[in-house]
Amino acid sequence: MTQNEQKLTDALERLQRAEDPAQVEAIRIEALGKQGWLSALMKTLGSMSPEERTREAPRIQEMRATIASAIDERKAALEAAALERRLQTERLDLTLPASDGPRGTVHPVSQVMDELAEIFADLGFAVATGPEIEDDWHNFTALNMAETHPARAMHDTFYFPDEGAGKRMLLRTHTSPVQIRSMMQNGAPIRIIAPGRVYRSDSDATHTPMFHQVEGLVIDRGIHLGHLKWTLETFLKAFFERDDIVLRLRPSYFPFTEPSVEVDVGYSHQSGRRVVGGSGDAEGHDWMELLGSGMVNRRVLEFAGVDPDEYQGFAFGVGVDRLAMLKYGMNDLRAFFDGDNRWLQHYGFSAFDQPTLSAGVGARP
Ligand code: PHE
Repeated sequence: MTQNEQKLTDALERLQRAEDPAQVEAIRIEALGKQGWLSALMKTLGSMSPEERTREAPRIQEMRATIASAIDERKAALEAAALERRLQTERLDLTLPASDGPRGTVHPVSQVMDELAEIFADLGFAVATGPEIEDDWHNFTALNMAETHPARAMHDTFYFPDEGAGKRMLLRTHTSPVQIRSMMQNGAPIRIIAPGRVYRSDSDATHTPMFHQVEGLVIDRGIHLGHLKWTLETFLKAFFERDDIVLRLRPSYFPFTEPSVEVDVGYSHQSGRRVVGGSGDAEGHDWMELLGSGMVNRRVLEFAGVDPDEYQGFAFGVGVDRLAMLKYGMNDLRAFFDGDNRWLQHYGFSAFDQPTLSAGVGARP
């Protein structure tokens, strides 16, 4: 066997043993690369005599064809084996149940806001909104709290820095400025609720610097306190899902309502929980202050451009967080806003059970 035939046999043997494409490529370069031994052999043809060339050329061409096709074959075989391995190891069993990843929950406050929106929608109320960064006029003045009004001191307001000329913005202390905005925007008649965040510089187990209110406002001809009482009763019966809701209306004072009524609801303690229902005067029962309300002060109607001789109305403001605590039995308001995942998983609502507005679908008590 000539030296070149030996090289060919050797290369073919190594090709059979090659286990990955890089090894095959190395053998190809060794033989057929620019510096390869077979390429060098091809070049010798040029310096041969015609007879020699006629004899040698077919042999060299054959060697070249042999190794080239052996290389192609081995490459194809390795690729096929690799594909087969992938198909074996990466096989998907589409009939296996999917793993259940972590699921978010609907926050009780969102849940309760949705419930309120649904209940009031049934009573013909639209949802209105207003800015959380408010000006003094909408938050106080137009609600009949002049600059020197003592009621302003009750509000522990967060103010922004003075913008000059005594003008400074504030974080709204209640949702009542939305009353003014709706009246100015749409005029009478009006039937809205306005849910949203409000801010007061206050913090303990039952107060957080940010909390949620829902404002209600009805303006029309001939509206009186009876409409207010009926609306609140109907709403609370639907919200707490019981017929034995008893309300007590107490005279109170708000600058923007006249007369003003504080509304209490009867409740009892059951297994350490306050459960709404029954008269607060009944055995084992008590009254709990639930919300502020009243007939819209005619000065407020005037500020908002509504004729108080033609239109009357009532307004109320209720704490959403308080409602959620009562209905679903939480006792520390601060936990609402800690963002503790365990609390959220425990008290949160599934987004996938029944329809709600914010989740699109879903509520599980
Ligand atoms: N804005 C009042 C508060 O935050 C509640 C209220 C609203 C009272 C509407 C009367 C009418 O305390």
